Amino acid sequence: PTALAGRHFLKELDFTQEEFRGLVELAAELKAAKKAGTETPYLRGKNIALIFEKTSTRTRCAFEVAAADQGASTTYLDPSVSQIGHKESVKDTARVLGRMYDAIEYRGDSQDTVEELAAYAGVPVYNGLTDDWHPTQMLADVLTMTEHSAKPLNEMTFAYLGDARFNMGNSYLITGALLGMDVRLVAPKTYWPAQDVVDRAHELAASSGARITLTESPDDGVRGADFVATDVWVSMGEPQEVWAERIAALAPYAVTMDVLRATGNPDVRFLHCLPAFHDLGTKVGREIHERYGLESLEVTDEVFESPHSVVFDEAENRLHTIKAVMVATLA
Ligand code: CP
Ligand code: NVA
Repeated sequence: PTALAGRHFLKELDFTQEEFRGLVELAAELKAAKKAGTETPYLRGKNIALIFEKTSTRTRCAFEVAAADQGASTTYLDPSVSQIGHKESVKDTARVLGRMYDAIEYRGDSQDTVEELAAYAGVPVYNGLTDDWHPTQMLADVLTMTEHSAKPLNEMTFAYLGDARFNMGNSYLITGALLGMDVRLVAPKTYWPAQDVVDRAHELAASSGARITLTESPDDGVRGADFVATDVWVSMGEPQEVWAERIAALAPYAVTMDVLRATGNPDVRFLHCLPAFHDLGTKVGREIHERYGLESLEVTDEVFESPHSVVFDEAENRLHTIKAVMVATLA
């Protein structure tokens, strides 16, 4: 587990296919060991700082439980209880935490911030989500795909519907390209990733054999898919005012039973990084329901609760894959 000793985990583009697959394989081994009660704690005596400038359920809990399973300790820092950003620069914070901790996780808006932490910390830095990338989520999604398909990764077809300009769309495109998958992003053109991300994906595809499709047509995009995924239409950090424009633009891209049928694959699986607006029973959901009269947003409750849905395996796999990142870089 020392193959990536001392490395950061900032974005998928920093890794070779072999390295990325190695992390997924290590996660599968750690998962099996935990289930069998034979897990070896490789991280005894290590201390890990967890900086969250945005909220989290899965990512924070995955880091804390993974660290505890491996014998490491964590400190949770949120901006309201630390000096980061408002009173102390990222550069100084990195150098202070790097003297005390063996690794630092960061979730926030800007990819530049996590890259700056990495440049100055002197210890591995992990991206727990920025506006641009969500790389730990990709490890969990790929592990989930390998568990729910008999095909090798380079024979799988994956379609993502929704806002493809943000962290999840970017990360899916690059991950699919890196791993040689048939990857489709399905969204209105204005919601496609930035051209430089698309260019990087094509460069990766040239050596991995990946097939890359960007399309506005849900029917064309999902045909033959082994996996269909989506994400929230309004991401953390975006103003609530954008809901109206998102609903108008992305409603045709909601994952419904018709979309799953259009794959032509009775065994198609549904993925969602969560949290999801499959019912509108939460506080934010109720406000949207009252305002727009909708019952669900990016995915229907029927799909979410169906046997196609593997979202809770995916959520559990955040734990095993984040553990793999820490073990591979620190043990
Ligand atoms: N999927 C994900 O990153 O969830 P959290 O925001 O709860 O960490
Ligand atoms: N795109 C979402 C992902 C949440 C895990 C967001 O950034 O809020």
